[in-house]
Amino acid sequence: QTQFADIKGNDLYIDGIKASDLAKQYGTPLYVMSEGHIRHQMNELKTKFMDKYEKALPLFASKSFSCLAIYKLANEYGIGIDCVSAGEISIALRAGFDPDKIYFHGNNKLPSEIEYALSHDVTHFVVDNFYEIENCEKIAGKLGKKVKATLRIVPGIKAGGHNYIMTGHKDTKFGFSSHYGIYLKAIQQILESDNIEYEGIHCHIGSQVFDLFAYVNAMLQFMKFVNEIYNTFGVVTSKINAGGGYGIAYTKQDEPLDFESITSEIMKVIYNEYDSHGWERPAVMIEPGRYVVGNAGITLYTVGCIKEIPDVRTYVSIDGGMSDNIRTPLYDAKYDGIVANKAGETKTKTVTVVGKICESADMITKDLPVTANIMPGDIFAVFSTGAYNYSMSSNYNQLPKPAVVFTYEGESRVVVRRQTFDDLILFDEE
Ligand code: LLP
Repeated sequence: QTQFADIKGNDLYIDGIKASDLAKQYGTPLYVMSEGHIRHQMNELKTKFMDKYEKALPLFASKSFSCLAIYKLANEYGIGIDCVSAGEISIALRAGFDPDKIYFHGNNKLPSEIEYALSHDVTHFVVDNFYEIENCEKIAGKLGKKVKATLRIVPGIKAGGHNYIMTGHKDTKFGFSSHYGIYLKAIQQILESDNIEYEGIHCHIGSQVFDLFAYVNAMLQFMKFVNEIYNTFGVVTSKINAGGGYGIAYTKQDEPLDFESITSEIMKVIYNEYDSHGWERPAVMIEPGRYVVGNAGITLYTVGCIKEIPDVRTYVSIDGGMSDNIRTPLYDAKYDGIVANKAGETKTKTVTVVGKICESADMITKDLPVTANIMPGDIFAVFSTGAYNYSMSSNYNQLPKPAVVFTYEGESRVVVRRQTFDDLILFDEE
């Protein structure tokens, strides 16, 4: 990781800019994203995976943070992207993204989305189910296009930071089951199809994963599938997508895996198997989201009311909440934070930081040590908010969405402007 946030004197600095100056200039709540850190992470994907292994392509899982600026950055590094809707694809294309490096995911791609993707030359699909095969067959046939299919198969492995973000176990809505040869039936249909080409298989076990063995086991399981596919159809699978989910540190308790360890273990399992058969090595893909943008984000808020409930707790309210960061209510996420304009002071008070939304679950972080000198008007910074914050934001309680500002080498720029009250009724009929 890059060290883009540091404390000088009594202030927090982000990429060399005083956080409270950013708050003053752009207002709060404010999503600040270190472009330097995002570049660093994308460069890791490029140099430690894409350039290192032949035919390897990292995809950025853009659901974690989707806007024009991020697709432009990904394009600069030559990496691909994972899109989960026609909406995401449309923004990527607007940003000038090469359609051949877009992989279309989703467990219920609408016929209209399939048509949209294909008519814009987005032909790489991570195929999820039989209904999708049927729709691809029809729509690709009608448009005279060919879908290049990677089949999502459930490996039967439980991993991930919360029940809601586990996807690799048997009971999941994602992908083809590996039970009763279900996925083999899907491959057979694709092999018989005129409009869909079989390329490979896809595995995503879940998100915020800290367990290296889960990745190794999933790939070992996938090598069994590769063999079954070969034994059944005589076809060597030429593409393996090993998914994403690499956990990041939100607090000091989190111990993330090293990127190169994950990828080299994955590659070892795959290459060993292919080499042992004398098969041509496959193209391998990974698709991390949070790993690329998660630690890059710092949300700045202004402190409002501070409520001390004797013998219970102290609530510190900030000017945003679950509308800009829903992860604590949804996944019981943990965040670290600091009073940005009093960052040098010792932390002798324990508080619970809450939002201004009318919900008791509207909480950023519980039991956080802060300076006892915290007061209304202070700037409160929450760390590691770069993934699944802006992209999961809403206008609940009609709060305008915050702006997103990129910081880089002492400079800042708005990449998404703050919403106005007019934006709140943009779609209302007067
Ligand atoms: N690939 C697939 C097929 C996925 O479903 C996901 C995430 C990713 C890649 C990227 O996972 P990442 O590397 O970012 O963990 N909103 C939740 C996470 C849900 C992730 C959904 N799929 C959160 O805030 O923790």
